[in-house]
Amino acid sequence: MSERHTLRQQIRERRRALTAEQQHLAAQQLLERIQSHPDISAARRVACYLANDGEINPLPTIHWLWAEKKEVYLPVVHPFTPGHLLFLHYTPTSPMVRNKFNIEEPELDMSRVIPHSALDLMFTPMVAFDAKGNRLGMGGGYYDRTLACWQQHQLGPKPIGIAHDCQQVAAVPNEAWDVPLPEILTPSKHWRF
Ligand SMILES: Nc1ncnc2c1ncn2[C@@H]1O[C@H](COP(=O)(O)OP(=O)(O)OP(=O)(O)O)[C@@H](O)[C@H]1O
Ligand SMILES: [Mg+2]
Repeated sequence: MSERHTLRQQIRERRRALTAEQQHLAAQQLLERIQSHPDISAARRVACYLANDGEINPLPTIHWLWAEKKEVYLPVVHPFTPGHLLFLHYTPTSPMVRNKFNIEEPELDMSRVIPHSALDLMFTPMVAFDAKGNRLGMGGGYYDRTLACWQQHQLGPKPIGIAHDCQQVAAVPNEAWDVPLPEILTPSKHWRF
């Protein structure tokens, strides 16, 4: 576990050290990769996240998805099932609040929750990844739980990890519950596993 802890600290520092200009460029390059992704035109409901802690910023992508009349969903920490996420419809007028991690999320409104199975694509944040598609997150197991059903039965949205190139590591020390990703997008590469 401590190897995972050290790796998280190291890669989180690395991505927080990116300049505003590097972040801006990365977000634009990510948008271009998503615009040319083979699955995007058929996707109607897309889960994203709001960037935090130096993560690659999906906001330009979110604005483009809205312009394309697609529905955007954001993760919300489940109010009473620990370690789980809900996905809420996100629009330019969604009321926002800060969750227990001080991350901005849509205010909980059960009428805006979508079942995971109704999403078409899920862009997944990561702390670190390797060339086999292994993913290390922030340590809450939220996405592992969200993706467990997809991994077992191929039900629900295909997860596509998104990250800066500098978040690639030689090997993520995997645990049994970690869900590897079938695809990863970085500014410089589209990985398929
Ligand atoms: N499918 C699951 N069911 C039950 N517990 C799980 C599941 N997946 C992960 N966990 C638990 O969650 C905890 C954190 O997992 P892990 O360190 O892999 O988080 P992470 O992948 O870095 O975080 P995240 O998925 O939130 O980005 C672990 O203690 C693990 O036992
Ligand atoms: Mg994990």
